Amino acid sequence: MTTPPSIELRDLCFAYPDGTRALRGVSLSVAQGESVAIVGGNGAGKSTLVQHLNGYLMATQGEVRVGGKPIARETVAQVRRAVGLVFQDPDDQLFMASVFDDVAFGPLNFGLSPEAVEKRATAALERVGMLHLRERPPHKLSAGEKRAVAIATVLAMSPEVLVMDEPSSNLDPCGRRRLIHLLRSFDHTKLIVSHDLELVVELCPRSILLDGGVIVADGPTVELFSNEALMLAHGLERPHILRHLHPHG
Ligand SMILES: Nc1ncnc2c1ncn2[C@@H]1O[C@H](COP(=O)(O)OP(=O)(O)OP(=O)(O)O)[C@@H](O)[C@H]1O
Ligand SMILES: [Mg+2]
Repeated sequence: MTTPPSIELRDLCFAYPDGTRALRGVSLSVAQGESVAIVGGNGAGKSTLVQHLNGYLMATQGEVRVGGKPIARETVAQVRRAVGLVFQDPDDQLFMASVFDDVAFGPLNFGLSPEAVEKRATAALERVGMLHLRERPPHKLSAGEKRAVAIATVLAMSPEVLVMDEPSSNLDPCGRRRLIHLLRSFDHTKLIVSHDLELVVELCPRSILLDGGVIVADGPTVELFSNEALMLAHGLERPHILRHLHPHG
């Protein structure tokens, strides 16, 4: 038996309550263990798309499957355990009184023992370099500190699929480098939305380019990003890092 794709979208359409049609028929398939970037200009539909992957938004039309199973009301709790989503805005992720409580929230809900929760939360905060903030209220952190803690809340849940919406924004160069190492060491399925195309080149062999709620390109990252006309036509630029790479390397 073949393994079902980790993530599969079939003709996904989504309109917000005010009528804005953000996704207009998106179909894609991500295999288990793949690392894929979703890129595109502001308003392309990237955040709308990834919020469907853990049932935060539900398709107006079409289907989203995770591990072969369609997301529906009955499966959404299971899907949220399998797919960890780091939101673009950390304020959507952090709501407890302390950093520790936010990072412990997911594991606690899984019914782990207090010792196991402590261990998971501590390890996740250590991995993002934010353990020293464990007692601080999240809403009083700097933008980059919030981002790192939001990433820790998802790591603490040990998801099978990691979905991150602009994970490197607001991180300082050291925090960004730490994030790249962290993501590289994570060999599960990854979907990364980012305007940081240099990070994408380092982490994702495949990229999907979105514009106006449709996929305009899907293929090898270096090939897509080297296509200057394609990049410029969709609000992007050829990243500088590619100028230093051998075209076939
Ligand atoms: N809550 C909302 N209500 C109505 N329209 C929305 C809402 N959120 C987003 N949109 C619209 O949906 C479209 C897609 O937005 P989305 O946030 O998915 O873009 P994005 O690709 O993530 O952009 P960015 O790079 O700026 O984060 C845009 O036209 C946006 O104005
Ligand atoms: Mg977005």
